[in-house]
Amino acid sequence: MNSVAKDARASGAKVGLEAETIIIRGGRPLTGRIDVKGAKNLVTKAMVAAILGDTPSTLRDVPAISDVQVVRGLLEVHGVTVTDGDPGELIFDPSRVESAHMVDIDAHAGSSRIPILFCGPLLHRLGEAFIPDLGGCRIGDRPIDFHLEVLAQFGAVVEKLPSGIRLSAPERLRGTKISLPYPSVGATEQVLLTSVLAEGKTELAGAAIEPEIMDLINILQKMGAIISVDTDRVIRIEGVSKLKGYSHRALFDRNEAASWASAALATEGDIFVGGAKQEELLTFLNIFRKVGGAFDIADDGIRFYHPGGELKPVVVETDVHPGFMTDWQQPLVVALTKAQGVSIVHETVYEQRFGFVEALVQMGANIQLHSECLGSSPCRFGQRNFVHSAVISGPTPLHGADIEIPDLRGGFSHLIAALTAEGTSRVSNVGIISRGYENFITKLQQLGADFSLEA
Ligand code: EPZ
Repeated sequence: MNSVAKDARASGAKVGLEAETIIIRGGRPLTGRIDVKGAKNLVTKAMVAAILGDTPSTLRDVPAISDVQVVRGLLEVHGVTVTDGDPGELIFDPSRVESAHMVDIDAHAGSSRIPILFCGPLLHRLGEAFIPDLGGCRIGDRPIDFHLEVLAQFGAVVEKLPSGIRLSAPERLRGTKISLPYPSVGATEQVLLTSVLAEGKTELAGAAIEPEIMDLINILQKMGAIISVDTDRVIRIEGVSKLKGYSHRALFDRNEAASWASAALATEGDIFVGGAKQEELLTFLNIFRKVGGAFDIADDGIRFYHPGGELKPVVVETDVHPGFMTDWQQPLVVALTKAQGVSIVHETVYEQRFGFVEALVQMGANIQLHSECLGSSPCRFGQRNFVHSAVISGPTPLHGADIEIPDLRGGFSHLIAALTAEGTSRVSNVGIISRGYENFITKLQQLGADFSLEA
């Protein structure tokens, strides 16, 4: 089954989206208030962490997105009981964790990479874990070599099977000294979720320090883990023999907040994003202001708006935290098509994250892609012929078109492009958006977008 078909099955009715195509009549500014809940990139990992506890865990502010449904399904096939508490609250009881068959894991996983992060917790609980062949993703190869090397360093035995990978732990995993070649978010989470119950100390150098990772560390500390974060990307973990469940309110979704901020700017609108906080958006807010966007920070959220006048071009390089997040560039690029002059976006996290640009060009944008590093600092993709820099010349008015959504963030940028465009756009494969944007159809309605849905 291809990744899009798997995603379509993993999304849909359970998160309130049955339509596959959205017809957007563009040209209206988005105005009003929407709220964001917990971050997809923390909530899904926090759900996995519940396996490590010997008592139930409670997570609040869980968004109704299909990636959460995918992890819920994966927990359930592994014997974890998941129940709904108050609205936005999930309770996980891991007292009967059991092995699952590769085929069931594969069926629940969609194209999600989450099964990799089950490995450490399952090796501790059961002594074995399986990773199915992970679905392809259109933002580059997305290898799992760091994950497998890290698990092997803890003492796991990695065995390649025709249908995936089997890992086993003949004895208790042992703490170790790890140095990541790149500050990978997933590999850092892998180390955290594996080291907390390993015997002895673990030192991780070259760690990712994204806010979602810090919140995962908060959760693990609540469970009884001993973790310190030193300067220069070094994380130290002292293994303990058992952990209990946690009760936690998830960090807000800064990627969703930044997406709606760019939507406000591109449509010349005014959106209050309830739940957004300044600290985790510091770098985004600087660029937003340089482009000509305005924002007011309140205790309960941030108002993002187009204050009038011309938008200005910028040079942006995506980077690991505290840099400009890779997931922020796609929606921003739509706003940059409206800026007066030449903007440059240098993508340094993923080697192929400009697939979404083709549709924007079809809609009238002037964007050229390059394999050279066009930012101020050369990145690891510069000598490898990956098309990873974009030059956006504006302003170019966009016109409606028939487009197909390729991936989550690129897809959201297509929605924004259609909302700003003159005329009607037909945007298909829209189900993918519900992987990471809770109730986005309702939110578009609340913000005054003019659209209809087609099954
Ligand atoms: C997480 O992906 C997020 N996903 C991504 O969000 C996000 O863009 C990314 O971190 C960067 O912030 C989730 O949290 C579910 P990485 P992850 O490991 O952990 C290379 C979204 O739309 N690498 O930090 O998979 C990799 O190819 C998404 O919400 C290896 O080479 O990202 C990439 O170039 C998409 N080998 C770089 O590291 C490995 O074993 C960073 O990836 C692992 C990664």
